[in-house]
Amino acid sequence: MDDNDSIHIEITRRTVIETGTTALLLTALPQAALAAGPSDDAGPPPPPATVELRINGSSHTLTLDPRTTLLDAPREHLALTGSKKGCDHGQCGACTVLIDGRRINSCLTLAVMHDGQAITTIEGLAEGDRLHPMQAAFVEHDGFQCGYCTSGQICSAVGMLAESRNGMPSYVTDDLTQQPQLSDAEIRERMSGNICRCAAYPNIVAAIKQAAETPT
Ligand code: FES
Ligand code: FES
Repeated sequence: MDDNDSIHIEITRRTVIETGTTALLLTALPQAALAAGPSDDAGPPPPPATVELRINGSSHTLTLDPRTTLLDAPREHLALTGSKKGCDHGQCGACTVLIDGRRINSCLTLAVMHDGQAITTIEGLAEGDRLHPMQAAFVEHDGFQCGYCTSGQICSAVGMLAESRNGMPSYVTDDLTQQPQLSDAEIRERMSGNICRCAAYPNIVAAIKQAAETPT
């Protein structure tokens, strides 16, 4: 061990005591890596991409960063802010939209992946002044408190009823040959990807049950 090593170890020990684990991590890095400075792994931004988004029956041609999510594109480029950003990590469901009738967490998918597909957000469910039956049922049953999760809950519930009508098997029984009954347990399980921090679940379930019985 030469003089430099002993000095380095002495500094390392004292730094750990004084400043904690970040300093430990830094001093544990090879000296060559430290000398090279921070790496620029991200590189230059990718070139813009053009995509046609068909949202709520209207076609929009956008040129945007290809990393833009399907959540951010309508919110930031089309002023469609009904879909909410809760976690931005696929864990809360606040961003749920419908693509060709199927529900999806829009924060987990890129806008450029949905060129030409039919996208429905909460703004596209009502017909003029007439609320979609799911929206009307949420109002009637007070299926919300703060409302932050509500657009995602409603879009997800619309998609969920379509899954049910199309014969998706039950999530809560082992009998996969039976058309699922929309029991409270079935609805809760099928809607488990949509978190409500206000815990309005009983009213949400009641609203969905009512909408399920309402012809669209
Ligand atoms: Fe997309 Fe939470 S914002 S799942
Ligand atoms: Fe507040 Fe659901 S109504 S989070």
